[in-house]
Amino acid sequence: MTKRIIHHPVLDQIDDTDTVSFTFDNKKYKALRDEPIAAALLANGIRTLRNHEETGTPRGIYCNIGHCFECRVTVDGKQGVRACLTPIQEGMDVTSGEKLLTSVRDWRANNE
Ligand code: FES
Repeated sequence: MTKRIIHHPVLDQIDDTDTVSFTFDNKKYKALRDEPIAAALLANGIRTLRNHEETGTPRGIYCNIGHCFECRVTVDGKQGVRACLTPIQEGMDVTSGEKLLTSVRDWRANNE
């Protein structure tokens, strides 16, 4: 594993041998079992989790505590999953966040 703190002064030694496999945008990666998706992606050198729906700018981890929703990705087809709060599981299919419906704007676009 790369880019990980394995020897931590407070958390002690991290077991980096218990790993799972997952995919992100159809590429296969390894993660530590039950670590957050965001941590797994960061450890694999991935900082862009999605692009802003309107500006196209890259988005990644911001608050890392579940408040901002900047880290939302699609997991096994479910949109809007916060990568910073969701533990990675064996075989997860993670994809860059997709555009979420904005009810009023999207209703207008489809009905006017
Ligand atoms: S980084 Fe803010 S909710 Fe995940």
